[in-house]
Amino acid sequence: EEIANPAGLPTDQLAYVESMVESNVRTQRPIFFRGKLDLGTALEQMLADEPSQVIDSVTASKLRGRGGAGFSTGLKWRLCRDAWGESKTIICNADEAEPGTFKDRVLLTRSPKQVFFGMVAAAYGIGASTGILYLRAEYYYLKDYLEAQLQQMRDQGMLGCNIGGKAGFDFDIRIQMAAGAYICGEETALIESCEGKRGTPRLKPPYPIQKGYLGQPTSVNNVETFACVSHILAEGAAWFRSFGTAESSGTRLLSVAGDCSKPGIYEVEWGTSVNQVLRMAGAYGAMAVQISGPSGDCVSVEKDGERLLGYEDLSCNGAFTIFNKQRDLLWIVREHMQFFVDESCGICVPCRAGNVDLLHKMDRLIAGRGCQQDLDEAVQWGAVVRNTSRCGLGATSPKPILTTLSRFPEAYQVRLAKPSGPLLPSFDLDAA
Ligand code: NAI
Ligand code: SF4
Repeated sequence: EEIANPAGLPTDQLAYVESMVESNVRTQRPIFFRGKLDLGTALEQMLADEPSQVIDSVTASKLRGRGGAGFSTGLKWRLCRDAWGESKTIICNADEAEPGTFKDRVLLTRSPKQVFFGMVAAAYGIGASTGILYLRAEYYYLKDYLEAQLQQMRDQGMLGCNIGGKAGFDFDIRIQMAAGAYICGEETALIESCEGKRGTPRLKPPYPIQKGYLGQPTSVNNVETFACVSHILAEGAAWFRSFGTAESSGTRLLSVAGDCSKPGIYEVEWGTSVNQVLRMAGAYGAMAVQISGPSGDCVSVEKDGERLLGYEDLSCNGAFTIFNKQRDLLWIVREHMQFFVDESCGICVPCRAGNVDLLHKMDRLIAGRGCQQDLDEAVQWGAVVRNTSRCGLGATSPKPILTTLSRFPEAYQVRLAKPSGPLLPSFDLDAA
């Protein structure tokens, strides 16, 4: 598919994305990068069905949310459709801010209409009239370009009133610039931000499908999820399920970065192993891979290389950051903890205070002043932060420490002030 540039995307940006797509997209059986998708025909086919059939197709495809949590998209849409409300809203979460992810930027640049069409499908299935693209503040340069793409869709009758000639199917999308804060990618903070308020997470439940934007049922989905829907409606649920594994259908866009010779966007089927991705990316001598960014797992290439990406094993939100043996793992962990300290909204104590304490422990360890008690407390305190924080940020922020302690205990032991004790007892990470 050609990269359209009707709104005059700055040429340096266009050239950058083109080079990233053309030279660095490595695919086995591609979904996203395999030629033009006929959205006009897909729209006709969709409107020939009843709205609930569209949701049935998405459910049958077994599509799971690409933001990272992997909730069933069909189920979310069904719940939103069934929820009572005066109006319903579809939000595309394009506040891609996990360190190490840049796949949504490429999708929005290369195939924005696929994303917007997925939103139109959600609106049809759910019965929504309002659409919002919540665009990461750092992607401001894309705004005019995306506005032009939306206008083209209006001119083609794919947005606006009576979409596709279907009487009463009215839906349009506006772009809202994000607030420039990581926490605004959390869906309820995002909704607060859309309402013009400070981006602070709400308690869940109620989930957005019950009480979301302006208190009305709202479905928030990731950029890649909407793009997947376009392909599912064009090609069918069974076709989509033929990619990937039993519990993880389709492909996954990976933002591959770090110590490798071929960084970029890779489209791989779920079920691809860590080692396969490393080989494709030309990463030799890798020690660790940070899967899903700081909020995910830091895995050991030696111990976990044959593990498979997918909800059955290693769930992944798209970030795949490679570290070789020359890297100081503790320093990386420290930087990730600093990130969470900076980005915590501060409303709940375990996250606000706990992450600072974990950061201080890392500083002590790096300075050679840490002791076994620091490590034991990091595990205990990490469990408290994970289990008692209000939102996903606190629920995942101790992971850089916990996963590296689990996979690389020796990296910590050699930094203790008195490294004479036994190696850390192994602990159950899931229980922590
Ligand atoms: P979550 O598990 O709370 O929710 C996932 C989705 O399912 C949400 O849309 C939620 O509303 C919905 N949901 C869950 N249970 C439901 C129920 N019973 N009824 C109706 N709807 C329900 O996860 P959360 O906190 O929204 O997201 C965490 C994920 O986000 C993590 O996997 C993390 O890796 C990822 N993440 C991704 C980033 C990115 O840049 N893409 C940035 C930061 C985190
Ligand atoms: Fe804010 Fe952290 Fe609590 Fe989330 S867990 S609401 S980011 S203080």
